[in-house]
Amino acid sequence: MSATKPLPESVLISESCLQNRIRELGTQISTDYENRELILLGVLRGSVLFFADLSRAIFGAQLTDAGREVQIRFEFVQLTSYHNSRKPSRVQLIHGGSDYLEQRHVLIVEDIVDTGHTLKFLSEYLRTLNPKTVKVCTLLDKPSQRQVPVAIDYIGFEIPDAFVVGYGLDYAQQYRNLPYIAVLDET
Ligand code: IMP
Repeated sequence: MSATKPLPESVLISESCLQNRIRELGTQISTDYENRELILLGVLRGSVLFFADLSRAIFGAQLTDAGREVQIRFEFVQLTSYHNSRKPSRVQLIHGGSDYLEQRHVLIVEDIVDTGHTLKFLSEYLRTLNPKTVKVCTLLDKPSQRQVPVAIDYIGFEIPDAFVVGYGLDYAQQYRNLPYIAVLDET
């Protein structure tokens, strides 16, 4: 580990807090999409841990009485940016042809909404693929940093303006595997 690498300073959201809230989100999403097929669209790479836990908190056929279930399909997108720009410039669908979201219910699963540029870019792109509905679920929301307005349907936690890592979120590809969310000490 290099001497200049910032260290996670303090736990902002504990593992148990994350898991409790994700169970609540899963129950809410299960109710909202009852008896429908839902495409969970994970935004790589930050949403991976959240995606894995959220998908297991959404009731599948195996856990519920007959007639009460949400059929889930997993899909992923990756967004890339130009050099030195935080605004995304390209969406890459990891799987599927251009018509695979057509007339489907899609739920974007994001790690964090900060300026809102990523979500705006992705939403506009998805609209061209003609899905039936598109909603957004983000684990974290930093509303104080918003530069463009975006609609978010499910929010895990609103957080203050701090750089956070863990539970999928990184600093220079580090810390993604922390089981909690921590504030990074960049001093
Ligand atoms: P946007 O500013 O809303 O477009 O957010 C784009 C991306 O920036 C998010 O999906 C994260 O990958 C990253 N990001 C924003 N804030 C943080 C943070 O506090 N920690 C780690 N990554 C962040």
